[in-house]
Amino acid sequence: MAASSRAFILRHTRLRPVPGLEGIRLHLGDEALPLWHAVQVETGDPDTALPYWAFAWGGGLAIAHYLRAHSEAVAGRRVFDLASGSGLCAIAALRAGAAEVTANDIDPFSEAAIRLNAKANGVRVDFVRGDILDEEPPHAEVVLAGDCWYEAVLAQRVTPWLRRAADRGSLVLIGDPGRRYLPTEQLAELARFEVRTTTELEDLALKQGRVFELQPAPPSA
Ligand SMILES: C[S@@+](CC[C@H](N)C(=O)[O-])C[C@H]1O[C@@H](n2cnc3c(N)ncnc32)[C@H](O)[C@@H]1O
Repeated sequence: MAASSRAFILRHTRLRPVPGLEGIRLHLGDEALPLWHAVQVETGDPDTALPYWAFAWGGGLAIAHYLRAHSEAVAGRRVFDLASGSGLCAIAALRAGAAEVTANDIDPFSEAAIRLNAKANGVRVDFVRGDILDEEPPHAEVVLAGDCWYEAVLAQRVTPWLRRAADRGSLVLIGDPGRRYLPTEQLAELARFEVRTTTELEDLALKQGRVFELQPAPPSA
């Protein structure tokens, strides 16, 4: 982990409980826009991404609630957490008894945040940095994807990648708080939870977080 990213996160966040998920703590930011500005100054990049890693998003919260209620989905299994952000889903999977979890994100600050958050929760999360959506999905028994449907271009790449993961035999669990680009008609809904997001960027503090399974394509006749 780059020492500077770690120091930046420690300076700009506080280790706090995640609302509704007793026992999980994350290094969380206060307001997104001032923090985004601080990242722009730190990196010297005006186009740097929003600091997604500093917040618990509705989709990840839904998955974390689901894994708390259904630990059998991940217990003893190898899990991959796509677009992990803070690492919330990865940490929830380990808390639910996953054998091992690998997280992935494109944001270098996310790697540093996940390492700090994993340590704060007494778990170990492996990390793969970068965009792997043009590669074959990993051979994980479970693939988690929390809140990846907030923009069209990402959504158009994530959904087919997850379908390939399901076709290769992974259980694919999606968490979503009602984003416009999620193709719900292709998914089987498993559960709904009222989730409290930690960012003021959402229109509502309390959202309905839904968890879906993306099932493999039926065999062609
Ligand atoms: C809304 S956040 C969700 C984070 C976390 N899953 C949660 O629900 O709290 C979306 C995440 O997707 C990541 N992301 C965006 N494009 C990506 C890509 N091509 N591959 C991997 N991660 C990506 C962002 O960096 C960000 O951390």
